Parts: sequence; structure tokens; C-alpha cells
Amino acid sequence: MIIFDDVHKSFGLHEVLKGINAEIAKGQVVCLIGPSGSGKSTLLRCVNGLENYQRGRISIDGTVVDAASPQVHTICTRVSMVFQRFNLFPHRTALENVMEGPLYVLKENRKQVRERAMALLNRVGLADKTNAYPASLSGGQQQRVAIARALAMRPQAILFDEPTSALDPEMVGEVLQVMRALADENMTMLVVTHEIQFAREVSDSVLFLDGGRIVEQGPAKELLRHPKHERTKDFLHRVMHPV
Ligand SMILES: Nc1ncnc2c1ncn2[C@@H]1O[C@H](COP(=O)(O)OP(=O)(O)OP(=O)(O)O)[C@@H](O)[C@H]1O
Ligand SMILES: [Mg+2]
Repeated sequence: MIIFDDVHKSFGLHEVLKGINAEIAKGQVVCLIGPSGSGKSTLLRCVNGLENYQRGRISIDGTVVDAASPQVHTICTRVSMVFQRFNLFPHRTALENVMEGPLYVLKENRKQVRERAMALLNRVGLADKTNAYPASLSGGQQQRVAIARALAMRPQAILFDEPTSALDPEMVGEVLQVMRALADENMTMLVVTHEIQFAREVSDSVLFLDGGRIVEQGPAKELLRHPKHERTKDFLHRVMHPV
């Protein structure tokens, strides 16, 4: 579904991705872990065309992602992204936020878009918050609106960039629960996260990125329990035993 083939990306002289090779099959959940600055967000942004890359190729369901190509807008609508800081429109209600993409990007019928948006908000447990503005919602609720908004585009895959790391600890669970439900429904997901427990329970495989390279990848249970590389061991130890 998503294939990375020797992907290189630089910002000026600074090479941030140094030859990424990986594959995400349809219906798989892949967690991307790694230290700050290792290139996780950049890799995600390259997948949905928010950033260009210089060498190699990324393809989604057979279509090459090329930020310079006019087709990139189609790609963006096929792959939704959920950000750490929700990025909801502050002057629109939860319902309007969810309706925005299908209405203005996909140009779908308003009545149907509205019904679907209501159903999606219900699905993420926010049926009673349809008319609430983001500022009046908790972080966990805002992130669930953001997930409903991502789903409203009927994406083939969803990319999550640290979806729970801006949340108060007591709100992490409700967001992970929604993500777990999506995984159970076989949504293809690439998730940047520090939630090792979630990665172990929900993901099919894990990519460990360090210094712009995938140092280790493999089945989640194996890689997280028995990492082979020193750097993976080190990183996992630091994440699981923060000082
Ligand atoms: N727009 C940009 N211009 C220049 N350098 C950038 C830009 N975006 C990211 N970088 C650099 O690329 C490297 C990788 O950044 P990236 O945000 O992908 O890391 P990350 O793994 O997501 O880190 P974090 O865990 O802190 O979110 C960093 O050195 C960063 O400074
Ligand atoms: Mg990041």
C-alpha cells in the first residue's frame, strides 16, 4: 500500500532522510519510533506531499508521491494526517470541522456530508459535542474530532504524528482507544508514537528510525521485546524508563 524505496530528503545541506526502505501492507498498522530529530515527521510529511524529497520514491497504492506533481492533491485526499496539535479550525464547530474536507475539497453533497460527519463524531464518542467549538473541548476531545475529520475524507491510509503527546495523561487512553478501533477495522495506519505499550499491542510492525536511517524494523512484539541493535535498546530503555 505504501512503499518507501531508497528515499532521501535534505533541507539545504542537511540530509534528514538517508535512504529509507520500508513497506506498509494494506490494513497494517506500523509504528514509527525514534529519537527527536531522527526524521519521523519529515517522513510522514513526504508521504502525503507536504514535503518533497530528492531521491528514491514513495508510492501509495501504485501512485508515486511527488510534491511537484499536480496529482499531489489527489494523494493528500487519499491519505489523511492527524497531527500532535490537532490543527482544528478554531472558528468552526466540531461538526463543521469534520464537514470541511468533504464539502470543499471533495465537493460532496451537503446533506450527505452532514449525516456522515454526525455518524463519525458519534463513532469517536462525541455525538453530544457536534456544535462545540474547539476551544471549549478538552485536548482528547479535540484529537478525536481531528480523527473524525481525517476519516471524513475516506482515506486509504491515515498518518498519525504523535497524536497523544500533547495530551494530559488522563486523555491519552480515549484517543488510543479510537485508534485501536480503527486498527481493528483494518485501517492502514502509520503512527509516530512514544506509546510503546500501544505499539506492542496494536501494531503489526515497528520501524526504528535514528539519524535519518531505519536502524531496525520487524514485527512489533519481537522488536520491542528483543531489540537487536544497541541504539534500539538504548532508545527503548530511555522511553520506558524516563528520568
Ligand atoms: N522545514 C525544515 N527546515 C529545515 N530543517 C528541518 C525542517 N523540518 C525539519 N527539519 C530538520 O530535520 C530533522 C528531522 O526533523 P523531524 O521533525 O522530521 O524529526 P522528528 O523525528 O519528527 O523529531 P521529533 O520527535 O522532535 O518530532 C531535524 O534536524 C530538523 O531540525
Ligand atoms: Mg516529529
